[in-house]
Amino acid sequence: MSLSTERSEIIHHLPPDHLGRSLRADVRAGLTASPKTLPPKWFYDKLGSELFERITGLPEYYPTRAEREVLELYSAEMAAASPAETLIELGSGSSRKTPLLLNALTKTGSLRRYVAVDVSDTALLDAQSELAPAFPDLKLQAVAADFETQLHLLPRTGRRMIAFLGGTIGNLEPEARARFLADVRELLGDDGGSLLLGTDLVKSPHILVPAYADAEGVTAEFNRNVLRVLNAELGADFDVMAFEHVAVWKPQEEWIEMRLRASRPMLVRLPGVAMDVHFHEGEELRTEISAKFRPEGVVEEVETAGFAAVGQWTDRQNRYAMTLAEAV
Ligand code: AVJ
Repeated sequence: MSLSTERSEIIHHLPPDHLGRSLRADVRAGLTASPKTLPPKWFYDKLGSELFERITGLPEYYPTRAEREVLELYSAEMAAASPAETLIELGSGSSRKTPLLLNALTKTGSLRRYVAVDVSDTALLDAQSELAPAFPDLKLQAVAADFETQLHLLPRTGRRMIAFLGGTIGNLEPEARARFLADVRELLGDDGGSLLLGTDLVKSPHILVPAYADAEGVTAEFNRNVLRVLNAELGADFDVMAFEHVAVWKPQEEWIEMRLRASRPMLVRLPGVAMDVHFHEGEELRTEISAKFRPEGVVEEVETAGFAAVGQWTDRQNRYAMTLAEAV
């Protein structure tokens, strides 16, 4: 499918059965592993995307506000340091913070085009209709694609800034992260261009853990939503509320883990993958890692991937960093 108007279009790179095929592969691999795991990208159906939007407004969940603060304070500096013709945003979601960057890049006079990349086409459509009236002179493109496997399908012309915000890079394990950064570098080719990377920073577990285990229980519902997605897409019969939300800080790895703990023994049927899966009482299924970073660690990782860090900015409380790295 391709929706196209004068200035905006949605390009679908996900085959019609992408959801089915890759969900089934992830579920087969993850639920036969020990300990059991599921990748976090499956949180984000319509309800999951709405729950995440609610999380961003919770008092405990500071990263969204901290990143907004960094952009409010420094987006002009970022744009001046790296003017671009095209802004490509990976995992753009609702694109709520994007206007700050678009405004800054527009003022340098270089910006012509914004490309939003996300697996959720409802999020892409909503974001398009919000942005279109505010940026009448920009070409807006929305690409429904998986940023982990489909970077090669993105525009390869002109000077580009690739933004990966929200701290989403923390959802990738170290090896996948290194691969992803190298793929982004490869996408930029020899035209220069830059990566703007948002990363949540290491801090006290007394702040980190509540950010992933809020008092109202919104994150718990978000976490359990992955089981609802499996029920809907695979005809599974998870008793969703029989799984308890767990958020733990792993000091060695410096990441938060979200898990779902079986409150009793269960046998779950998943007809869509022809599997029956057993959980013993107290067994935990890992649904997300959210790595936290040290500013110098981010610099090291982008430089290993073939970038030179040209700027790094944090919010006033030093909770969150944005790193600008030029392809070299
Ligand atoms: C949007 C992936 C960065 O890891 O903090 C929020 C998702 N998970 N609460 C994060 C999330 C639990 C979020 N990212």
